[in-house]
Amino acid sequence: MTTHHTSTRGEPRVALVTCAELVDLDPDDRLVLAPLAARGIPAETAVWDDPDVDWSSYDLVVLRSPWDYALRRDEFVAWAASVAALVNPADVVRWNTDKRYLAELSAAGVPTVPTSWVEPGESWQPPAETGEYVLKPAISAGSQDTGRYDLADPEHRDLAVAHVRRLSDAGRVTMVQPYLRAVDTEGETALLFLAGPDGLTFSHAIRKGPMLTGPDLGPDGLYKAEEITARTARPDQLAVAEKTLAAVPGGTRQLLYARVDLIPGPDGEPVLVELELTEPSLFIGYADGAPDRLAAAIATHLARRT
Ligand SMILES: Nc1ncnc2c1ncn2[C@@H]1O[C@H](COP(=O)(O)OP(=O)(O)O)[C@@H](O)[C@H]1O
Ligand SMILES: [Mg+2]
Repeated sequence: MTTHHTSTRGEPRVALVTCAELVDLDPDDRLVLAPLAARGIPAETAVWDDPDVDWSSYDLVVLRSPWDYALRRDEFVAWAASVAALVNPADVVRWNTDKRYLAELSAAGVPTVPTSWVEPGESWQPPAETGEYVLKPAISAGSQDTGRYDLADPEHRDLAVAHVRRLSDAGRVTMVQPYLRAVDTEGETALLFLAGPDGLTFSHAIRKGPMLTGPDLGPDGLYKAEEITARTARPDQLAVAEKTLAAVPGGTRQLLYARVDLIPGPDGEPVLVELELTEPSLFIGYADGAPDRLAAAIATHLARRT
């Protein structure tokens, strides 16, 4: 049986989940606090691995910036499963925190960046052909442990082998992708969807500048700096995003938010690079009304639970 706990004043309790390195949230997420308060929803921040938090005391637990889970994803997924009021929900978190979901989406017909996978312990040599490639862990966020290699350069080939070995030795799966060079000019397009009365609804889009300048040379913080600007989504981008969302296991009604990240492929058509259902930056500061739309989305999910 489920019981709902509300404060003595009867106000709903909402937690915005972050990590210990970011106790005051990402500044962009703070923009939702005022529109939430205006709706009578006082939100608190909570650190996902803080043992003193009583998660059952919240009516809604909203994942926002738990960006330190990549090296302990099992712990994170187990925590998610223990929080009944979590959005996005635990099953989605389990599915979405391992980028092997890209293979499933590709099989479902979503145009997806071509990816091959290196299991820990498997030996790996760079492809014989030249060209630029990206190596990154299947479980990661914030562009960490992600590198770009020019296979015409013997030094890069050696560094690529070392990168895969470093990930393998840590028991991690490596993703190998062609470098989509259109990102250098057109950038990456992130399409943001938020829950509305009729389900998940497109809210806004942003452009993210290219992130990768060369080989990965080791750890460098929680996330890498991003260059973000507002962008208008094109119909072909929206179509790929809708196709992506239609393939999410369990459907999209359970989702508070979704972010679909696209880069043009070699033929200029958008391809999926990442589907962010766990801890996306939502970039609500880059679009008129987006902070209020996120507050409304939270209110919608809250109303379903109280
Ligand atoms: N195949 C690729 N081609 C070009 N750029 C890429 C590619 N894969 C990743 N990147 C760059 O690296 C960044 C981080 O990779 P991504 O797959 O989004 O992982 P995460 O954001 O979870 O760290 C992207 O925002 C993009 O700029
Ligand atoms: Mg990304």
